[in-house]
Amino acid sequence: MASVKLIPKPEEPLLLPKPGGDGCVRCAVVATAGILNGSKMGAEIDAHDYVFRMNGAVIEGYEDDVGNRTSVYVHTAYSMIASLHFFKKYGYKAAPHDEGIKYVMIPEGMRDFQWLFNAHFGGCSLFRHMGDKRDYFYLRVLISHFLLTRRFLQSPQLNTSTWSLVRPTNGAFTLFLALHTCDEVSAYGFITDDYKKYSNYYMEKDVKTDITFYLNHDYLLEKDVWKELHNSKIIRLYQRTESKMETEDVKQR
Ligand SMILES: *[C@@H]1O[C@H](CO)[C@@H](O)[C@H](O)[C@H]1NC(C)=O
Ligand SMILES: *[C@@H]1O[C@H](CO)[C@@H](O)[C@H](O)[C@H]1NC(C)=O
Ligand SMILES: *[C@@H]1O[C@H](CO)[C@@H](O)[C@H](O)[C@H]1NC(C)=O
Repeated sequence: MASVKLIPKPEEPLLLPKPGGDGCVRCAVVATAGILNGSKMGAEIDAHDYVFRMNGAVIEGYEDDVGNRTSVYVHTAYSMIASLHFFKKYGYKAAPHDEGIKYVMIPEGMRDFQWLFNAHFGGCSLFRHMGDKRDYFYLRVLISHFLLTRRFLQSPQLNTSTWSLVRPTNGAFTLFLALHTCDEVSAYGFITDDYKKYSNYYMEKDVKTDITFYLNHDYLLEKDVWKELHNSKIIRLYQRTESKMETEDVKQR
């Protein structure tokens, strides 16, 4: 509670409509799946009002496929650090720090609240790679694991003895956050039916890798949910093999 009280209450909505537009907030959420390799979606992604990214958001050298802007960066205390090590080989040096960027931390457990507390009092070296600490803005993330898992991601794994390990991916949290804060959401680099055709990450260009399913996430359930949200026209999911007509149809909505 001491940590939560330190989080500033936002004085305005997280994402305002862009001036001169029609008042709708259009967002792209960019995850790291291999489907983006060679996609040339960069310009389309950057054309959105806001671009959300998470985890190891490797951009440099991949702009044609994934764009170069980041408006909202979503992470856990763990992923912030782990990504620096894990994605180093792809040239990832720091979390994105575009001007005006908003950082959103998903609290996973007690250590995250301690992380927040320490970070606030400046004793924490974790800010070093993120530019100016004053730009760091934490949103009170209202979407709880509970709500998400119960309402949208009812994994059968929640009925097993390892239930407490199971939680949505950070990509899932980011997509739901975008749905809460934007009027229109396009999702790129999320898992699709044909995921076996692509590498695990879009950075894995040279050698085709197999997707890694970590036990703490239900990837196949998420895959079905994203498809269902797309088919219900709630999000627009980038699927390379989808028919053009369907895309046009959503655009005209
Ligand atoms: C992204 O690329 C465009 C076009 O090259 C450039 O004008 C812009 O400054 C870049 N933005 C960032 C955040 O790097
Ligand atoms: C968990 O088990 C209960 C009782 O058997 C069942 O009603 C529920 O649908 C199951 N939930 C999931 C997500 O499988
Ligand atoms: C990545 O995309 C490039 C360009 O389309 C392609 O040549 C390459 O085979 C792809 N890599 C993988 C691992 O799919």
